[in-house]
Amino acid sequence: MAETQTGESVVGLKDDAVAALLVAESSEQLEAWRVEFLGRKGRLTTVLRGLGSLDIEQRKVAGAAANHLRVELETLFEERQQQAISTRAPAGSIDVTLPGRKSSLGGLHPSTQMIREITQAFNEMGFQTIEGPEIELERYNFDLLNIPAGHPARDKWDTIWVDSESRGDMLLRTHTSPMQARVMETSDPPVRVVVPGKCYRYESTDATHEWHFNQVEGLAVDEGITFADLKGTLYEFARRIFGASRKVRFRCDYFPFVEPGVDMSIDWNGNWIEILGAGMVHPKVLEGVGYDSSKYTGFAFGMGPERVSMLRNDINDIRHFFANDLRFLTQF
Ligand code: PHE
Repeated sequence: MAETQTGESVVGLKDDAVAALLVAESSEQLEAWRVEFLGRKGRLTTVLRGLGSLDIEQRKVAGAAANHLRVELETLFEERQQQAISTRAPAGSIDVTLPGRKSSLGGLHPSTQMIREITQAFNEMGFQTIEGPEIELERYNFDLLNIPAGHPARDKWDTIWVDSESRGDMLLRTHTSPMQARVMETSDPPVRVVVPGKCYRYESTDATHEWHFNQVEGLAVDEGITFADLKGTLYEFARRIFGASRKVRFRCDYFPFVEPGVDMSIDWNGNWIEILGAGMVHPKVLEGVGYDSSKYTGFAFGMGPERVSMLRNDINDIRHFFANDLRFLTQF
């Protein structure tokens, strides 16, 4: 067995060191262990220093063993230190006197918040919220809304068509109005619905235009519904969303599926800002879904919740809504 001048054997040293390390728990005990065995004047260092006095053959054997032991003890020491830290952590490392930090919670997207506010305003006026497909048939997006193929109004809705092997009449809806026809096809009057959802247009983007955006459609059909109902309902909506003293203006506008058609603007710091299109449901639309247009009348409207939110929150670019930038999203 390799022994040095001091008489300490490498094996004996190892047994001592391992045993002592196992009972060292606190960082002070671990440090004391390190000094005793691996320190500059520690036992292993003394063994290594003593190697010089051995003859060459003994020195080779004892030197290799001692160096090997040094690596071994250093590794064991590090492991033990890690162990001590991780077992101590739950109790010792939490400083209960530090101020608490808020955990970060997610939130609703600003478009969703506005959609909910708008639909709730109409829910309270007796409108039910429903949703419809974003991939739509040409028939609902256009034909049943009195926009047949070749109608110049189709130019107003630049359309993203869906590539399909089996049929060529599928598209991403350009507005939520197709749900007017879908709702009336499946239910009898009276109808009172609001339909929030995504719409898509083949358009270049700028501060007020996106190629996808949300709309909230509204439809009320019953016996005896007049233009006064349209105005009263939308006026009440504007007051709920923009405040009781907000001024509202209706102007004539054209949409093939309403007659007469209007747009509604609100007074925003002296400027009239258009926020929605509306009108009395065209008799052809009613007849297209099998309603008796001599008995039933109705009104419809469609608005952009992002635009409403832009006004209310002073947002200057609609593209912020879909850029997924937390600096924007966390402001809501
Ligand atoms: N769908 C129309 C648009 O996207 C808005 C509208 C809806 C107009 C309902 C009148 C009635 O521009």
